[in-house]
Amino acid sequence: MSVGLSVQHDSGLLHVSGQARYIDDIPLPANALHLAFGLSSEAHAEILSMDLSAVRAAPGVVAVLTAADLPHGADCSPSAHDEPLLAEGRVHYVGQPVFLVLAESHLAARKAARLAKITYEALPAILTVEQALAADSRFGPPVVWERGETEAALHAAPRRLSGVIEMGGQEHFYLESQAAAVLPGEGGDLHVYSSTQHPTEIQHKVAEAIGRPMHAVRVECRRMGGGFGGKESQGNAPAIACAIGALLTGRPCKMRYDRDDDMVITGKRHDFRISYDVGYDDTGRLLAVLFQHYTRAGWAQDLTHPVADRAMLHSDNAYLIPAMRIESHRLRTNTQSATAYRGFGGPQGMLGIERVMDHLAHELGRDPLEVRRLNFYPDSSTEGSAPAQVATTHYGQEVRDMVLGRLTERLAESSDYHARRDAIAAWNAANPVLKRGIALTPVKFGISFTLTHLNQAGALVHVYADGSVHLNHGGTEMGQGLFRKVSQVAASEFGLPLDLIKITATDTAKVPNTSATAASSGSDLNGMAVQNACQTIRSRMAEHLGALHGVSADAVRFEAGKVTAGSAEMTFGEAAAACYAARVSLSSTGFYKTPDLSWDRAKGRGRPFYYFAYGAAVSEVVIDTLTGENRILRTDILHDAGASLNPDLDIGQVEGGFVQGAGWLTTEELVWDDKGRLRTHAPSTYKIPACSDRPRVFNVTLWDEPNPEATIYRSKAVGEPPFMHGNSVLMALSHAISFCGSGADYVALDAPATPERVLMAVRRRQGHGNG
Ligand code: MTE
Ligand code: MOS
Repeated sequence: MSVGLSVQHDSGLLHVSGQARYIDDIPLPANALHLAFGLSSEAHAEILSMDLSAVRAAPGVVAVLTAADLPHGADCSPSAHDEPLLAEGRVHYVGQPVFLVLAESHLAARKAARLAKITYEALPAILTVEQALAADSRFGPPVVWERGETEAALHAAPRRLSGVIEMGGQEHFYLESQAAAVLPGEGGDLHVYSSTQHPTEIQHKVAEAIGRPMHAVRVECRRMGGGFGGKESQGNAPAIACAIGALLTGRPCKMRYDRDDDMVITGKRHDFRISYDVGYDDTGRLLAVLFQHYTRAGWAQDLTHPVADRAMLHSDNAYLIPAMRIESHRLRTNTQSATAYRGFGGPQGMLGIERVMDHLAHELGRDPLEVRRLNFYPDSSTEGSAPAQVATTHYGQEVRDMVLGRLTERLAESSDYHARRDAIAAWNAANPVLKRGIALTPVKFGISFTLTHLNQAGALVHVYADGSVHLNHGGTEMGQGLFRKVSQVAASEFGLPLDLIKITATDTAKVPNTSATAASSGSDLNGMAVQNACQTIRSRMAEHLGALHGVSADAVRFEAGKVTAGSAEMTFGEAAAACYAARVSLSSTGFYKTPDLSWDRAKGRGRPFYYFAYGAAVSEVVIDTLTGENRILRTDILHDAGASLNPDLDIGQVEGGFVQGAGWLTTEELVWDDKGRLRTHAPSTYKIPACSDRPRVFNVTLWDEPNPEATIYRSKAVGEPPFMHGNSVLMALSHAISFCGSGADYVALDAPATPERVLMAVRRRQGHGNG
């Protein structure tokens, strides 16, 4: 059976040999046009006049469009209809598309887009949390969820601490930038190729923008060169632009953002400020926590509400907190509209409580691991049955599958955590300039879309008369290996080798009404839908072959490329041919919806998640106290992917997720100036981790227990949870800094902990104020 085997990524060879096709590689007819946006230079302003004559006169330009030329308004928003494709009279951030150029080449379009003369009347721009609070600039009132009587519990607590942590946003830096290509068909129908995690949304938004039903638009996506959440909604604009261009000119249109444009135009991870007020007892047990979340949502709503909700839902991480109140402020600012990014707010919420644990351990003078473990939800038994006393989260979901007690114990042992922590203290005492630090942090991440109706998926499976299989489902491939995993499911259901399963592009004409490939649930949902379709076909085949050979359908076996029915044995191809000849349908749709979910968002109560994915990481770092430079020396991760569908792919997700998470918290810094201009809009100024930044020693192991819930082959979702293992790096840096100077104050390191921030924290500990 191929499920559970470490088969390589289906496109691995194509990726490394440059043969994998992305949008920009699709051959288009010779008359194709290339599109580029003209962008706002102001953060908030009224457009007084727009002189586009030089743009129109530029070589190769075929047409130039402004908002007034858009037939149906062309909204790009995934939520609130508040994102016109082109600015309507007013601009809301530096980089907002104002006009659209259609030209004979990519370069001609981009060059022409620079020639506009636009005059603006500046309006007050809201760029920071303070400015937004002062102006009460928000998307909706604060969202407040509470368990218990937090105020009273704080007052009654024997000990208190409080603080603030700031964490920056993050650029997705998918290697393939946002891109779309649109071919006009008969009668105004459109065929859209889009680099998107959400083909159905592209279909819906394009149909709306051209004033046609969804059936007029077919969207295809074979793969993305990375999405990371940045292609849940941010692909809408280029697809809509191409669709409108194709309709107005009758020519194929393609748009691919240049890297700088992509960074300036598109939304990023939400930055957060989290303040905390904590009550605890002398043993270090948490009694009450009050969190204030402040996030800059940018100019439009996009996915801010569900992202900020998920931050609230992960404010407990792995810890049982008897009384907790979270107040979430979603601030409207004149910056890019912040969007989904791996973890979808979970990392931000989780970092809040991890900071609390680190701070708490400092106050008690204890090893943070002890304090963390003391506060864990109780473990389930080793057989995966619920713990004797089932604890509930602050939103009322029972934690029945907790493994972190056992998992962190095993990781502490395999990584030699305690001995290394002692060795580090000794090493630091002997080294005045370099200081080391170590930290172990846990992850508990909720799996399912919090918008319950999104937890559904469809599939379409064909068995051809020669026994080869054509596979479609609603999920998209962005490098995570979803297509490979799902093909393993199909191969296992039919007992076939993988090379008989053809993986094809995601296509709204084959599987309709799909959800974004997001919330890590791609394989959970689509794996089940594909299994459902395969089982339908298999039982039809078994019924026929059983009757033919005088055995019950249940007794027909599909294994190792063979079908056996009683004494009859045939290849799967022969079986398919026999079924075809007997007029048995060999094609089926499949469907799945996640069971047992209930979630009342207004109250903040229910069971939003089908289950939790767990894991923990230990990172050791070294800092240079003269420069703030730092390195990750070693990271050990033990991660729970249930009964893994494909261990090598899952380990790849864990490694990549960790590195991306560590990048968020260390080197990746977004800087806007006081005019609202993003100054870090290219790899020259924005530093993602390079290969050389990965830990020198990197040990990743998968936890060996199946998912107690009935997921596809008892596996667990793995796309996002490992991102939060990056927390171990920030906490290890905090530990290293705590060895500097004689200061007793908590280090309170903000993120990203760039060398500058590390240096300033070191200087504070050494009594140099802010350095
Ligand atoms: N891995 C790669 N290589 N590229 C990506 O873009 N996106 C991540 C994660 N892993 C991503 C990735 C995000 S944000 C999510 S939600 C999941 O993959 C989506 O895929 P899955 O649901 O199939 O895990
Ligand atoms: Mo992932 S942020 O859910 O696309």
